[in-house]
Amino acid sequence: MPPLNSTDPLAPTSVTETSATSDPHTHQNRQRNPSPDAFSQSAPPPEVGTVVGPFVLQAKLGEGVSCHVFRGWDQTRSAPVALKILNWANVYDRNSAMKQLRMEAAALARVKHPKVVRFIDFGFDPRWPYLATEFCEGRPLGELLRAGGALPPEWCLFLISQMVDALGAVWQAGIVHRDIKPDNILIGPNGNAKLIDFGLAKADVLSARGRTGPELAGTAAYLAPEQAKDASTVNHRADIYSLGVTLYETLTGRLPFEGRNRVQVIFQHLNAVPVPPAERVEGLPPLVSDLCLWMLSKNADERPQNYQELRQALDTVIGIRR
Ligand SMILES: Nc1ncnc2c1ncn2[C@@H]1O[C@H](COP(=O)(O)OP(=O)(O)OP(=O)(O)O)[C@@H](O)[C@H]1O
Ligand SMILES: [Mg+2]
Repeated sequence: MPPLNSTDPLAPTSVTETSATSDPHTHQNRQRNPSPDAFSQSAPPPEVGTVVGPFVLQAKLGEGVSCHVFRGWDQTRSAPVALKILNWANVYDRNSAMKQLRMEAAALARVKHPKVVRFIDFGFDPRWPYLATEFCEGRPLGELLRAGGALPPEWCLFLISQMVDALGAVWQAGIVHRDIKPDNILIGPNGNAKLIDFGLAKADVLSARGRTGPELAGTAAYLAPEQAKDASTVNHRADIYSLGVTLYETLTGRLPFEGRNRVQVIFQHLNAVPVPPAERVEGLPPLVSDLCLWMLSKNADERPQNYQELRQALDTVIGIRR
């Protein structure tokens, strides 16, 4: 694990401290010591053509709860990037929004793996604080599922297999993603998958800092039972559960637990037995269905305990001998 130092965005700082980047180049728009008030709530929403740090915004890709996402052009490297920019209109607490974006940058900067979106830059632009990552061609898996329903089992296993590699690297970096779901997996040409959105990631080095009580985080449909109770204490096995939900959805086109609201869904994660995928998909090999149910074990001690164990089980199901 890389050491924490002053250039590590994970280093405990407040938003008034220096900007952080993996790269030595500096940007004109950055301030070394902006005060929290310098983050302007009155900044106009960024739009196509706006220059943010060294990037020119080219197209809007989406708008999350707290961020705009743009495709941008990196004028320094002459390459496309994806930019997450704080959406002040939806931000209640400017300091904690800044901290969260910095934590996302910090988590991403620690993981280097071809199946995980690559961190490029993080900037305290006073009007539009941003996180830049490599731009990935493709569409979120969630979009593909909403458009076409279940995928052929061999595709599902191929996608999940790539995510096992990605999450193995995330785990080795001491990070739990905590938001594994089809919308956070981009599918590019040839089914090449990339894990994105570390907005809820938890890093070991931060786990003991500033926690006062149980934390609620994650998307109800994909939440491990223990994460539904307290997201601050979960480990990588919660990501394995969420990946199990993702596998279930790709195989069957349905979620294992459906409900009218978050409480109903969480109640089922805690108490209900999922319908085996093999009962929903004719001809699905029992080994595939069983692997999925193993990942969905309510008790984390009964799931695959690590990514090596999951890798071996997956290889057996796919029929690969290493
Ligand atoms: N590196 C990238 N390359 C291409 N498109 C991306 C990239 N990162 C994000 N996107 C697009 O932007 C969308 C939203 O990104 P992301 O999941 O990171 O944020 P979010 O879920 O909206 O934010 P949050 O969860 O923090 O509210 C993705 O579904 C995808 O379409
Ligand atoms: Mg997302």
